[in-house]
Amino acid sequence: GHGHGGLDDLPVPTIIGHRGASGYRPEHTLAAYRLALDMGADIIEAGDLVPTRDGHLVCRHEPEIGGTTDVAEHPEFADRRRTKVLDGISVTGWFTEDFTLAELKTLRATERIPANRPHNTLYDGRWEIPTFEEVLRWQHEESRRRRKQVWIYPELKHPSYFRGLGLGLEERVARALRRHGRDRRNSPVILQSFEPTCIQRLNRLVRNPLVVLLWTADSRPWDFVETGDPRTVADLITPEGLREIASYAQGIGPTLDLVIPRDTAGRLTEPTTLVRDAHRAGLILHPYTMRNENPFLPADFRRGTDPDAYGDVFGAYRTYFATGIDGV
Ligand code: G3P
Ligand code: CA
Repeated sequence: GHGHGGLDDLPVPTIIGHRGASGYRPEHTLAAYRLALDMGADIIEAGDLVPTRDGHLVCRHEPEIGGTTDVAEHPEFADRRRTKVLDGISVTGWFTEDFTLAELKTLRATERIPANRPHNTLYDGRWEIPTFEEVLRWQHEESRRRRKQVWIYPELKHPSYFRGLGLGLEERVARALRRHGRDRRNSPVILQSFEPTCIQRLNRLVRNPLVVLLWTADSRPWDFVETGDPRTVADLITPEGLREIASYAQGIGPTLDLVIPRDTAGRLTEPTTLVRDAHRAGLILHPYTMRNENPFLPADFRRGTDPDAYGDVFGAYRTYFATGIDGV
């Protein structure tokens, strides 16, 4: 085992419902989370966490909610539209940090990528934006109802950016977990972030945290850009870099390209040594995003959402985590 009883209870490989069953329902709604469990997910990414103006945590993929809610149809919020620079990228729209929770609760979730998931638009306007508090209560109720421990895998989104606004995500997550008794050893919660300093902060603020550091293929962690740390992701995925990460994280969440690169024609090539190197450093691994309709994945993987169908592929790579049920 990995020395963490809780993680050892999870099946190998583990299927994560990425923002819920987002191929089938508007993502980051309780309905999407529930359906992912019905489809056999072991863990729900609930949510990507972003803050409200009055300091609550809500589940949205990004703080900008023009495409994931009906906010544009609310004339009372027309003057809330802003252009902001977020982690170096200019974004225009409506941002959760400019709304109180009460205001956000008047909005309804909509499908984020209607061109790819047209049937999901049938559910536009049905469901509220969930809060992290609601997720923690839901997790407890679902686990009791299903007589099976439901795991959640919240991601803290843009933590440096929100720290700069006085809306530190780590403190708020720590407080919520403590309130729900989810800071005990082997609690069924794994926290993820793209920023190493966020993971390190969670280690200081949360008792017994299980934490995973995320990576994209081509960029530097945004907190490194902010602090002038010159290292790139390529520097971090060396055996030495992985050993350092293992001193403050249980796992890594690399983009799929870092595990199974594609050639210029988009075909899958041989796996890299990242899985082996990570396991040697004692790290679990969650490559994202494996989608069952992805034409580049082996046929075994595309058989469906049955966890056994994933085992052939990821068993071979000895990968611990796979992100499963996700339309895009
Ligand atoms: O868990 C990995 C994945 O969720 C990170 O990317 O942009 O989908 O939140 P993103
Ligand atoms: Ca995420």
